[in-house]
Amino acid sequence: MLVLGIESSCDDTSAAVLDNGSSVLSNVISDQNTTHSKYGGVVPELAGRCHIESIHHVINSAINQSKIGLKQIDLIAVTVGPGLVSSLLVGLNTAKALAYALQKPLIGVNHLEGHLLAIFLEETVEFPYIALTVSGGHTDLYRVEGFGEYKVLGRTRDDAAGESFDKVAKMLKLGYPGGPLIEEKARLGNALAHRFPRAYLEKGSLDFSFSGLKTSVRNIISKRETGEIPILSDSDISAGFQRAVIDVLTDKVFLACDKEKVNRIVVTGGVAANSALRKRIATEANSHGLKSFFPKPEFCTDNAAMIACAGYYKSLNKPLSLKDTINLDAKASLKL
Ligand code: KG4
Ligand code: ZN
Repeated sequence: MLVLGIESSCDDTSAAVLDNGSSVLSNVISDQNTTHSKYGGVVPELAGRCHIESIHHVINSAINQSKIGLKQIDLIAVTVGPGLVSSLLVGLNTAKALAYALQKPLIGVNHLEGHLLAIFLEETVEFPYIALTVSGGHTDLYRVEGFGEYKVLGRTRDDAAGESFDKVAKMLKLGYPGGPLIEEKARLGNALAHRFPRAYLEKGSLDFSFSGLKTSVRNIISKRETGEIPILSDSDISAGFQRAVIDVLTDKVFLACDKEKVNRIVVTGGVAANSALRKRIATEANSHGLKSFFPKPEFCTDNAAMIACAGYYKSLNKPLSLKDTINLDAKASLKL
């Protein structure tokens, strides 16, 4: 089955062609980093406009690279939420028009389900597994029992982990997106130069909180400017901040495995592209006798291949009708 995936939930316009759920024939991504960089975060109106400018080109490139014809597509899968409505609507309306013109079925996919299943683009993971979804909008822990069977174990009560990377990068005037820039700075810094707080919340809680950490970084930066504390370089602050985030994420993943008696871990979402996080969880998993899985970085950050993959598995369980296609709507805070 050939699936065309379309993703435009935030600031990446992407289209992919997937053969039988796992063979990626193409995965084209157009980011908007230059547009948003000067604002230190995504400006929704600009994001919507950029999607409009690039979506046709991105879909054409995905079809050309896959070396199949548009008419050979069996199914179109598109992100319907959660995300920015003005961004989601560009992908959704384009997908609806294509489905109508080609008379092909269209399936709506929850963006988070795409992240949860991205690992299946590369390998098969046995169920159940614990999934840590860490992105710019979400920091969630799930027990994944099967395709379409997801139980939320914990989530952030305030900022998402990726959002805190972006905000700290903005405070340090590094640019956007902050995650890769902080990671690069952190490589040169001393994570022990300053100990930032870790929010573990109530004993045994699988929820997260990153807003206190962000405030603490802000305070340290202003104290540094007034000379109240010994000199800390941007690299030291980046390393200390990144270590605090990784400590909490790692500890909660293993707590979830312990509580749920599950020995497989999948880490996914944009922050899962962070090599220090990957290394830490992989090392600890090995020492605990657990298995850990990480999609390659291209499939961690937003991409349409994961949407095509989730759409493929969803379509196996659900016969599609034209009514489903027409009624599809974008939902900013769609739940999984
Ligand atoms: O999954 P994603 O592409 O979009 C959302 O669904 O939000 O995640 C984007 C987030 C951004 O906050 C970005 O700073 C973060 O993922 N990110 C990283 C890294 N690469 C991207 N965070 C830490 N380290 C990275 N290498
Ligand atoms: Zn995402």
